[in-house]
Amino acid sequence: MKLWILYMEIIEFLCIFVSKKIIMGFYSDDELKSMGFLHIGRNVKLSKMAQFYNTGNISIDDNSRIDDFCILSAGKSGIKIGKNVHIACYCSLIGEALIEMHDFSGLSSKVAVYSSSDDYSGLSLTNPTVPSKYKKVQNGNVILQKHVIVGAMSVILPNVTIGTGSAIGALSLVTKSCEEFGIYIGNPAKFFKKRSQRLIELEKQFYTEEA
Ligand SMILES: CC(C)(COP(=O)(O)OP(=O)(O)OC[C@H]1O[C@@H](n2cnc3c(N)ncnc32)[C@H](O)[C@@H]1OP(=O)(O)O)[C@@H](O)C(=O)NCCC(=O)NCCS
Repeated sequence: MKLWILYMEIIEFLCIFVSKKIIMGFYSDDELKSMGFLHIGRNVKLSKMAQFYNTGNISIDDNSRIDDFCILSAGKSGIKIGKNVHIACYCSLIGEALIEMHDFSGLSSKVAVYSSSDDYSGLSLTNPTVPSKYKKVQNGNVILQKHVIVGAMSVILPNVTIGTGSAIGALSLVTKSCEEFGIYIGNPAKFFKKRSQRLIELEKQFYTEEA
């Protein structure tokens, strides 16, 4: 009988734990302050189900939001997130070199951004369990300029700058930098067509109305 009560109490505890996780959603301002970020702006929303490593090298500016199951793992050069940036669920930003996302940029679900990548040639060992003297990791900054949007399940490799206002189609592999205001698709990602610049006008309108 007692075991049955204990069993019910464990079930109740798990239900409360899960529902609290779901309802509570984002970290409070006090919780964000205690996490040791380099900088946290106003109205930043970080899911409690996302993971942040080396927070002392991560800065996140006003009104940005990071959703469930994202991983931000900053290296020495850090991760810098601008204003009104959205990172949808299951994204990862990982690497030693700098990763920057400028204002109004965004990642759709399951995008992987790498500022470090192992040597795949076979001339060196790979993976983080191996000391660096056996490896030849390539590090390179990844910069997503203003208004860049990256479609679902895309991969961005080191040494890539995506120019202001460009969009990357879903399921693309971005191996080289992209010019401004283009739409790029495919594996490897190639220029597909021009992207409208109307969003620049909308940005001005947004700042005027929200001021
Ligand atoms: C790239 C994209 C913006 C193009 O949209 P579009 O201009 O309406 O293009 P269309 O749908 O007319 O497709 C034109 C051609 O490109 C191909 N194409 C479109 N998107 C592609 C992609 N991501 N990768 C490869 N080919 C693609 C289409 O199959 C089509 O080929 P076809 O002419 O041989 O039939 C869109 O397809 C896309 O990938 N959007 C991202 C959506 C996303 O990730 N949303 C997540 C939530 S925000």
